[in-house]
Amino acid sequence: MSVQIKTAEEIEKMRVACRLAASVLEMIGEHVKPGVTTEELDRICHEYIVEHGATPAPLNYKGFPKSVCISVNQVICHGIPNEKKALKNGDILNIDVTVIKDGYHGDTSMMFVAGKANPAAERLNRVTRECLFRGIEMVRPGAKLGDIGAAIQKHAEANHYSIVREYCGHGIGQGFHEEPQVMHFGKPGTGLELQEGMTFTIEPMVNQGKRHSKVLPDGWTVVTRDRKLSAQWEHTVLVTAEGYEILTLRNGEEPA
Ligand code: MF3
Ligand code: CO
Ligand code: CO
Repeated sequence: MSVQIKTAEEIEKMRVACRLAASVLEMIGEHVKPGVTTEELDRICHEYIVEHGATPAPLNYKGFPKSVCISVNQVICHGIPNEKKALKNGDILNIDVTVIKDGYHGDTSMMFVAGKANPAAERLNRVTRECLFRGIEMVRPGAKLGDIGAAIQKHAEANHYSIVREYCGHGIGQGFHEEPQVMHFGKPGTGLELQEGMTFTIEPMVNQGKRHSKVLPDGWTVVTRDRKLSAQWEHTVLVTAEGYEILTLRNGEEPA
């Protein structure tokens, strides 16, 4: 299936699903602190999603065993919540929430800190969020996917970080991962032209050290090869006539 243009009815359903996904991140923040396990955070998110009449999309997706992905420190993405180790003061973590509501997906993630992060970790979190917004700002009808990737890559590399290349953003709707693939690196003016009515995620993964990743033997957990820190922020966006609408914007969230 090629890139879809969503109808007004579909866009309204995307808005509802995406608002719910955003509200999970609003809700979970106060629970993130030293001593809590990622399994406990997963359980709280799962219950909230189900209570709101939705389904956590990751659960059983290609065999993923939990309801959200939680990626701590050197984990780039697809971390599996577990009861083994509690969060420690200074840990940084991404919680990635995808819900299915009335047949449509909303997908968003952000970084949290357990207790107080050190300045280098804070800087990585901040610059990665800026990378997401440098990408979002490129979205408008007539722009190219390469414009998004180039803006993200430029900001990461100007800050002496690297962009993970093995994982990308994606079209989203009735499918979790639809076309197109949204790279977080590239060349301006290249790639697919954006059209009003497209919905896709932008979700840059930015490494403190080198860009290279590997998957652990559990088949899911993606870590930095050099074991330095990695950060990720994700929004689902709609291409509008004027530019973009961030469908997963949280209450009170200010653009970077
Ligand atoms: N939410 C992730 C994304 O942004 C995908 C997670 S797939 C899972 O695309 F199976 F690991 F949950
Ligand atoms: Co996601
Ligand atoms: Co995504």
